[in-house]
Amino acid sequence: MPIIQTHELTKRYGRRAAKSVLAVDQVSFAVEEGQVFGFLGPNGSGKTTTIGMLVGIINPTGGSFQLFGASDPKGLLAARSRVGATLETPNFYPYMSGRDNLRIAAAIKGVGRPRIEECLELVGLADRAKHRFATYSLGMKQRLALAATMLNDPELIILDEPANGLDPQGMREIREIIHILAGRGKTIFLSSHLLWEVERTCSHVAIVRKGRIVASGTVEEVVSGGTSVLLRAADEDALVAALEGYPEATSVRRSDDGVLVSLGSDDFAALNRYLAGQGIHLSHLAPHRQSLEDVFIDLTRGDFDSMTEIAS
Ligand SMILES: Nc1ncnc2c1ncn2[C@@H]1O[C@H](COP(=O)(O)OP(=O)(O)OP(=O)(O)O)[C@@H](O)[C@H]1O
Ligand SMILES: [Mg+2]
Repeated sequence: MPIIQTHELTKRYGRRAAKSVLAVDQVSFAVEEGQVFGFLGPNGSGKTTTIGMLVGIINPTGGSFQLFGASDPKGLLAARSRVGATLETPNFYPYMSGRDNLRIAAAIKGVGRPRIEECLELVGLADRAKHRFATYSLGMKQRLALAATMLNDPELIILDEPANGLDPQGMREIREIIHILAGRGKTIFLSSHLLWEVERTCSHVAIVRKGRIVASGTVEEVVSGGTSVLLRAADEDALVAALEGYPEATSVRRSDDGVLVSLGSDDFAALNRYLAGQGIHLSHLAPHRQSLEDVFIDLTRGDFDSMTEIAS
C-alpha cells in the first residue's frame, strides 16, 4: 500500500472560468514506504498547492488521493496524525528561545519533554536551544521548523521547499537530517525547485510543469529516459540551425563544451549522415550522460523567468 497515492488530483483556483487558474492538473503519483520522493518543478508549477491538498488546507476541485490508504474524512483525520508537515516557516515567537518555542508546539501536540530534546539533537540545535529565536540564522530557523515537525514522530514527513533560501552549508545540514530520517525508515515527500538538492537527496522524483507531471520514477529512470549527444563543429550556428530541422532531435542546447542534443533514438550514425548531408562536418560526437538538470531543463523549458537558479 502506498503511503501517498493521488489519482488525477486537480485544483482550480477561482470559480469564474475566465479568471481561474488551473494550479494542479490531473496529477497521479504514488509514494511508497521508505522513499524520499522529490516533487520538482519551477515556481508556480503547483507544488505548494499539491502539498496543501495532502495536508488538508486546500480543497481539491477534482480527482482524489489517499494517505496511508485512507480517503474518507474520518480515515484522513487518523492518517494525518501520522504525518508531519512544514509548509512555510511556522510562526515561532522571536523573543523566546528555540526550546521554549518547541515546548509550546509540543504542548499543542501532547508531546513530552524528552522528545523535545531528541528533536533538538536531531536537527543539531541542542547547543543553541536556549538562545532566542530572533538570533537564529535562516538555516537554524528552518531546522527548528523541522524539529517541530518531528515532535510527534511522524511516519510521513512532508516538506515544502526545505532548502529554500539556504546557503550551501545550510542545504547540506537539511540534507543530512533528511538522510538520517530516511535511515530511520521515514517516508519523505519534499518539494523543491533546486535540482541538485533533489538529485542528491531523493530516491524518487516527479517533475511537474504547469500543474502536470511530465516525468516520474527513480532519479536514475528519469535521468536515463533520454539519450543525448555532445556535438562540436567549426560553425556552431550552422550546426544548431541544421539540428532544428532534424526530426529525432527533441531539444538542442548550447553549452560551454559544444552543442547538447537530446535524441529520440540512439542512432548516432544517422545523425552524422544527416548533418553531413547538410554540409556540416562534426569535429566531435560523443554520448552525453544526462543529469537531472538536463532533463529538467528540457521538460520545463521556458517556464523560468531567469535561469540563474538552475545554473547556480
Ligand atoms: N490562493 C490562490 N488563488 C489563486 N491562485 C493561486 C493561489 N495559490 C496559488 N495560485 C496559483 O496557482 C499556481 C500554482 O501555485 P503554487 O504555489 O502551488 O506553485 P509552487 O510550485 O508551489 O510555486 P513556488 O515554487 O513559487 O512555491 C500559480 O499559478 C499560482 O499563482
Ligand atoms: Mg510553493
